[in-house]
Amino acid sequence: MASLSERLIGGPASTLSSLAGPRSGVGVIDRSLTSEGSAVSANGTAAGSGAASMRRRAAATPVVDRRPRSFTPRRIEVEPLSPVEQLKVDLHRRLVERLDLEALERIEDPTVLSAQIRNAVAEFLRTEATPLTQAEREDVIEQIVYEVTGLGPIEPFFRDPTISDILVNGPRDIYIERRGKLSRVPVSFRNDAHLMAIIDRIVSRVGRRVDESSPMVDARLPDGSRVNAIIPPLALDGPILSIRRFGAELPLSALVENGTLTQEMVDLLSACVQARLNIMISGGTGSGKTTLLNALSVYIPATERVVTIEDAAELRLQQEHVCRLETRPPNAEGTGQVVARDLVRNALRMRPDRIIVGEVRGAEALDMLQAMNTGHEGSLTTVHANSPRDALSRVETMIQFASTTLPLRAIREQIASALEVVIQIARMADGSRRVVSISEITSMEGDVISMQEIFRYRRRGITEAGDVVGDFEATGVRPLFMERLHVAGIDLPGTMFLPE
Ligand SMILES: Nc1ncnc2c1ncn2[C@@H]1O[C@H](COP(=O)(O)OP(=O)(O)OP(=O)(O)O)[C@@H](O)[C@H]1O
Ligand SMILES: [Mg+2]
Repeated sequence: MASLSERLIGGPASTLSSLAGPRSGVGVIDRSLTSEGSAVSANGTAAGSGAASMRRRAAATPVVDRRPRSFTPRRIEVEPLSPVEQLKVDLHRRLVERLDLEALERIEDPTVLSAQIRNAVAEFLRTEATPLTQAEREDVIEQIVYEVTGLGPIEPFFRDPTISDILVNGPRDIYIERRGKLSRVPVSFRNDAHLMAIIDRIVSRVGRRVDESSPMVDARLPDGSRVNAIIPPLALDGPILSIRRFGAELPLSALVENGTLTQEMVDLLSACVQARLNIMISGGTGSGKTTLLNALSVYIPATERVVTIEDAAELRLQQEHVCRLETRPPNAEGTGQVVARDLVRNALRMRPDRIIVGEVRGAEALDMLQAMNTGHEGSLTTVHANSPRDALSRVETMIQFASTTLPLRAIREQIASALEVVIQIARMADGSRRVVSISEITSMEGDVISMQEIFRYRRRGITEAGDVVGDFEATGVRPLFMERLHVAGIDLPGTMFLPE
């Protein structure tokens, strides 16, 4: 154990509690932060009048700030460019400044276009002192083609399958996420207008538009990536473009390998899917909910008819018999919208064996739960929530939106009898994902839905390299649904639920 604490920042075990996050400590307001006007209270909420009261409390309670004196928030690193890459970036910028991009954009035939660009680049390089190899020259040409037909300076990131998110905060601040880690990249758009032109190109291709009268847009690219753009006056520092890529396919074996969950947890969850238990995967943004749902779906027997309902079709079910439905936003005139609830209702008339709702966000929760309670078991869905308990209260709120007349107790009974398993997945500080809890919903106790945890992840600390350290553990609880698994012909060894 001593060696573990040595591997952790701060050395002595007594400092570990200070790493466990704000909840473990007393609310401390760092005055240096508040004085800079970027005040964030200790529990992560923006500091307003609440912060003032916390400051009063902080003044009344003697508080020890255990952070080292020289504490500085960790900055997002800039991804370094090799000298050749830097050269290409410079060359590209100067070339773009000289080319008549508008004239090039009018050329529709891609072979003519690339020939024209090739000539222009050759011409330009003749006057340049820097020699380029043939491969580098091809690269520069390719980048200009991107400029004219694609996403401009961010196209290379878009083509790189190891990059999951591309986040553009105005023309000069561009971030990428690669393998769970965010870094800043040294490329930029020329100005707001250049960035706007690329945003316009992206959204107009999928039949959407963005301008001052509709300054926010959500769209999906043909490859499934999700795009959001928000522009001034709503975005204060220039247009913001967020591209969230369609995640790489990660089967359960890969998730076990990268430490997202253990083989025992996979055995349990796959049994639950086969035995048609209703499962909800809960987690924060980008925590891996959809990826886990996709991975678990392989256990749906090929003999079943599955209907999937999503806002942006991301699921890639391997079964043959799948009907994929997608919601539709309103058109420019504000009509024609089709929401998830409409699709769930329609799905019920399609003789589904299972209904999979990619993510429950609103009124569809009621219809989905009713479906689960009326013979459409084996449903899988995800929800944006921070704990299994939070997931239930989210669903509760969604149902209250859908039906103002249902009493709270009835709503909770509906939830308790429909849902059987809640899987909580989280994105750790080091970018890795962990299934932090698998819980069973057992029944109602009074007005409260009762749950019991079967597996959990216990975080122990963080290494000097920033890696999160922890263990998965069985809680010792043998789930009540074991009987359901048995009836479905699946018998799991009872020993897997014993704590180590
Ligand atoms: N277990 C995992 N290990 C490593 N990377 C993962 C894991 N799960 C997901 N990812 C990656 O994280 C990104 C987000 O994953 P995913 O879309 O599944 O998250 P999500 O929780 O559904 O996000 P959203 O809140 O946007 O719906 C993807 O790029 C995906 O490849
Ligand atoms: Mg998702």
